[in-house]
Amino acid sequence: MSIIIAIDGYSSTGKSTTAKAVAKALGYVYIDTGAMYRAVTYLALEKGYASTSGIDVKSLMKSLRKSEIKFVYNPELGFSEIYLDGKNIENEIRGIEIANWVSEVAKQPEVRTYLVDLQRKMGKDKGIVMDGRDIGTTVFPNAELKIFMTASEQVRAQRRYKELQAKGDKASFDEVLANIQHRDHIDTTRKESPLKKADDAIVIDNTNLTIEEQVQKILAMVKS
Ligand code: C5P
Repeated sequence: MSIIIAIDGYSSTGKSTTAKAVAKALGYVYIDTGAMYRAVTYLALEKGYASTSGIDVKSLMKSLRKSEIKFVYNPELGFSEIYLDGKNIENEIRGIEIANWVSEVAKQPEVRTYLVDLQRKMGKDKGIVMDGRDIGTTVFPNAELKIFMTASEQVRAQRRYKELQAKGDKASFDEVLANIQHRDHIDTTRKESPLKKADDAIVIDNTNLTIEEQVQKILAMVKS
């Protein structure tokens, strides 16, 4: 029987890496909802709808409704990549600029309603692993398995810093740490479906776990 696996948690807890590996092992579809919020942020910045005076939500929603966000499976990588209006934007959305804006965009109720609806449609055929901040609480409250991932702030910032460095991003460690703290703050305090553990989610603190150990833990839960 195929199920829905919801993986939520704080920024940079390795949700995506773990979710991808779990999906691969089970032959499930992986959906990265953070990439969807990042894609909307990319659209907002590209169109000039995000500035220090705020987000022009009305114009952004008008553009978003005309745009197409989709995931396309890349057989060489073994997982799906995000496309906005036919363009692969995986690289563009992972830098610090998008990271600095994304939580502001993601806290807009109109943006959330629109993306949650899209996520539910994407996950309607079971056999999915979806990661984000509100999957177990809002998108799929009836998901059969819910995981809530956490790790110490320093460890998370160190992991993300290394990832960005490998991509040639010049962000400093302090900037990465501040970004993680900033995003977690906005995500946990926003009005619309704030980041929180679902009552029936299982917590995995991976401060001292390898990716492989986390993946095995989750696979064991699926089998039991
Ligand atoms: O998972 P990732 O770090 O790529 O997500 C980027 C941002 O998108 C998060 O910091 C959060 O503000 C937002 N997000 C969200 N709800 C989700 C997934 C991501 O608000 N389901």
